[in-house]
Amino acid sequence: MTGPIRLYHLSDIHFGHEDRQAIDWAKREIARGRPDAVAITGDLTMRARHREFAAASDWILALDVPVTVEIGNHDMPYFNLVERFFDPYRRFKAIEQLVEAEIDLPGLAIVPLKTAVRAQPRFNWSKGYVTRPALAKCLAAIDALPKGVRALVAVHHPLVEVGTRGTALTRHGENALCELAKRPVLAVLSGHVHDAFDLVHQTADGPVRMIGAGTLSRRLRSTPPSFNELMWDGTELKVIVRNLEQVATQDMQIEGIPEDAMPPRKPGEPVAPVGRVPAVDPPVH
Ligand SMILES: [Fe+2]
Ligand SMILES: [Fe+2]
Repeated sequence: MTGPIRLYHLSDIHFGHEDRQAIDWAKREIARGRPDAVAITGDLTMRARHREFAAASDWILALDVPVTVEIGNHDMPYFNLVERFFDPYRRFKAIEQLVEAEIDLPGLAIVPLKTAVRAQPRFNWSKGYVTRPALAKCLAAIDALPKGVRALVAVHHPLVEVGTRGTALTRHGENALCELAKRPVLAVLSGHVHDAFDLVHQTADGPVRMIGAGTLSRRLRSTPPSFNELMWDGTELKVIVRNLEQVATQDMQIEGIPEDAMPPRKPGEPVAPVGRVPAVDPPVH
């Protein structure tokens, strides 16, 4: 290996309600930093409209690096319930065809686990749900990896609650984490809650690292728009939360109790994101 593997972990761009300044900056950073891959953990669109997917396709195609995407709860038809029930993944599949089905990096593989479902036996279908077939598919992919290769499991919903303001309430998530804990999983990458985190969850079968990326949309929770930069040197996985506001990584990551990591406002300044501090690109890492 000629240096650490660098991966940019983006999430929840929500085309249709994207933060234009944030996605232009992210695109520039990808062009400048040239990561080995970009992993997008779902909610590419706001309402799964055709025009939103078209905008997402254009944006992704312009990135000259390998990209992988997971489906989020916002990426299934919202208004057309017939299509949602009978062909929920059709619009998303068009995007999947543009990107890598699998990304294999030296000693590392990004393995998807689907957590967004067309419907589920509770009122709120936006929450996470790990079906048995989805988990079986993910575990089989991990078990098929060559010896010594570690998996980064890409999901949309965090598999358990992590103390963010937004919730995932993923059904069967704890069970999934137990199964992942038995395998060579480096971390589980997720989105959905629109705030970043990096923590270790203890399961009955051992610890699993969970890394969440924030959002590049205008749907902010506690932190300004951001994405994660991951660096893996074969021994240690480092995470930096990149953001236009240059808020320090530790202040961008939610731990246990939600924190407000928005940059301080000057008296009379409008509430972010309208009045964010002037954009100064952070140094390239
Ligand atoms: Fe989202
Ligand atoms: Fe979501």
